[in-house]
Amino acid sequence: MQEVLPEGAVIRKLWIGETDKYREHVLRLDPQSRHSRFGGGVSDEFVENYVDLSNALDAVVHGCFVDGELRGVAELRPLGLGFARQAEAALSVEKAWQSHGVGSALLRRTLLAARNRGFRLLHMACLAENHRMQQLARKFDAELSFDFGNVIGEVESSRPTPLSLMREFMADGHGFATAMLDLHTRMLRA
Ligand SMILES: CC(C)(COP(=O)(O)OP(=O)(O)OC[C@H]1O[C@@H](n2cnc3c(N)ncnc32)[C@H](O)[C@@H]1OP(=O)(O)O)[C@@H](O)C(=O)NCCC(=O)NCCS
Repeated sequence: MQEVLPEGAVIRKLWIGETDKYREHVLRLDPQSRHSRFGGGVSDEFVENYVDLSNALDAVVHGCFVDGELRGVAELRPLGLGFARQAEAALSVEKAWQSHGVGSALLRRTLLAARNRGFRLLHMACLAENHRMQQLARKFDAELSFDFGNVIGEVESSRPTPLSLMREFMADGHGFATAMLDLHTRMLRA
């Protein structure tokens, strides 16, 4: 599937030490998007604690950087301790960057990461009125079975294969190279 993203956008995993960028992204969400993301109105303090917890829980966090600024995030959180077989996935894209393919690209990477980590079941909490997220989930019909009636979507992911592991490995390598290039360009501009 061809990925269409806004100009200057790069999808890559967040690195250790980029928690502040994640926190700032979530705090920038408009009230409606924040409500949809967390399934209700939540305070800034809740958001801050939530992001810190993701860091502690070894979540896999993919980000969409546009001109170096984090504009979209997809988080994959293991549910349970030890070798968890289930995880929770959640997405957020800042309003100005919604409907430009960012959510689709982030969900695609998250499904691949879930598969490669052996998560057999993926939960997605989605409000019944969140048509945008439901439309997005429908694009991944082949990999995703989403029960909107129950509000919680469940994904039964396929088993990892050498090819699926290679796809994630290559995406990480590409993300790293692009980030280095971006940093270099900024240093030259400064
Ligand atoms: C839900 C969300 C992650 C989608 O991200 P996005 O970047 O807007 O998604 P995309 O641009 O990839 O669009 C995906 C699909 O959604 C649908 N879509 C896009 N804009 C839409 C709109 N305004 N209304 C209804 N459906 C829409 C389309 O089917 C689109 O697929 P297409 O581009 O092939 O037509 C984003 O809107 C968001 O962050 N919302 C607030 C937080 C949230 O709801 N999170 C989900 C709970 S976990």
